[in-house]
Amino acid sequence: MQKRTLIAYISAGSATERYADVIADTLRSRGHVVDVTDLKREKVPDLSSYENVVVGTGVRIGMVYRKGKQFLRRKDLKGKRLAIFLSSGMAVESAEKSKAKFLDPLVEKYGLDPIMYDAFPGKTPGSGGKLEDKTDPEIARRWAEELVSRLSESI
Ligand SMILES: Cc1cc2nc3c(=O)[nH]c(=O)nc-3n(C[C@H](O)[C@H](O)[C@H](O)COP(=O)(O)O)c2cc1C
Repeated sequence: MQKRTLIAYISAGSATERYADVIADTLRSRGHVVDVTDLKREKVPDLSSYENVVVGTGVRIGMVYRKGKQFLRRKDLKGKRLAIFLSSGMAVESAEKSKAKFLDPLVEKYGLDPIMYDAFPGKTPGSGGKLEDKTDPEIARRWAEELVSRLSESI
């Protein structure tokens, strides 16, 4: 039977939403069955029918979005093959620094064991308060390709 993947994301400025769509398209193009859920609008789904879960969230004012953190705390995530991505302004300069600042502490605190977790460049507040779009769908596409190959290895 086909393995199922849930992509659950929370986005305020749409960068995370865009990345979630790219990751979903990439996984589907490789034959995966994928559902995508927006944690802001949709009921938190039952995870029992999913083997793989990808969680996407943004960060503002030094804080990873609450609904993203809430989802990562779910007890029923244990035993799932998990991947996490973050959309962040800091990742425009350094994805590694952003990962270390925002994701490492969550992985540690919630005792997670993700197959992959990474920060992607988001929309950065520019002069005049307008958000400059620094998102790069190609980064998410390559990340999802790597995820496909790691998922197939870890069966
Ligand atoms: C008010 C505001 C505060 C932000 N604070 C941070 C921050 O502390 N660290 C960071 O890396 N990025 C920060 N950013 C950039 C966001 O992480 C970026 O806009 C990202 O795209 C958010 O994801 P989303 O578009 O899916 O909501 C901030 C953006 C805004 C608008």
